[in-house]
Amino acid sequence: MKPFNILALGDICGPEATKFLCKRLWSIRRQYGVSMVVANAENCAEPNGIDKDSAISLFESGVDVITTGNHVYRKSSVFSYLDDEKNLLRPLNFPSSNPGHGSVITKIDGVRVLCMNVLGDAYMDPSGCPFEAVEKELDRQEGNYDFALLDIHAEATGEKKAIAYNFSDRISVCFGTHTHVQTSDAQVLDGKCAYITDLGMCGAVDSILGVKKEAVIHKMKTKMLSRFDFASGEMCIEGAIFSVNTDTWHGISCKNIRITGE
Ligand SMILES: [Fe+2]
Ligand SMILES: [Fe+2]
Repeated sequence: MKPFNILALGDICGPEATKFLCKRLWSIRRQYGVSMVVANAENCAEPNGIDKDSAISLFESGVDVITTGNHVYRKSSVFSYLDDEKNLLRPLNFPSSNPGHGSVITKIDGVRVLCMNVLGDAYMDPSGCPFEAVEKELDRQEGNYDFALLDIHAEATGEKKAIAYNFSDRISVCFGTHTHVQTSDAQVLDGKCAYITDLGMCGAVDSILGVKKEAVIHKMKTKMLSRFDFASGEMCIEGAIFSVNTDTWHGISCKNIRITGE
């Protein structure tokens, strides 16, 4: 059995991080024997959100599916592209009339992967119930895919783990995004679902969650508005490599990665 390997990348923070990643992604794919790349790019454009040009450069550089989150609608210019580009996802649990879609089935090396994106409930702006939204989508797509993958874009670690455990029978690859801080709890849930609570980020090392530290500190100390610009300098690429057994379609391993450079 040759496993199917997926690289999932944490929130990409800004144009410089996008360029840094795009330059290296094909060689990272080769190095880790990866068949598919999923990246959360809700913050890849200036000053935040995602735009069409950044998404296209990520696709051209080796990203197969882009997921997003609470910042997906920051730029209205991306709305029609969200409708048109099937491999660019917005969270499933927004109103169904919103621009974009929350899932796609991609076929890579003959493997049909159902990719889904959902927003958490805890400490986030209200959206629909993530459990219900994912369950509904799995039911709707039943029989159309070989295995399922889910990006849980959420703040609370416990909520991410609860969602993943709830679907460990039906989802083989499950990871969290949004906090920009990588967790060290990569594991296989119930022997079937390869999981990590947060992938981390692709962004500047000398920063607060990818943003210039001075601006964040100023806002926290003074409670006054402050402009958040992405930091630059040394960059990191954080994420995880997941392996799926192509006989059983179970997730069999998850290993976090971190690559740094100028
Ligand atoms: Fe987010
Ligand atoms: Fe983010």
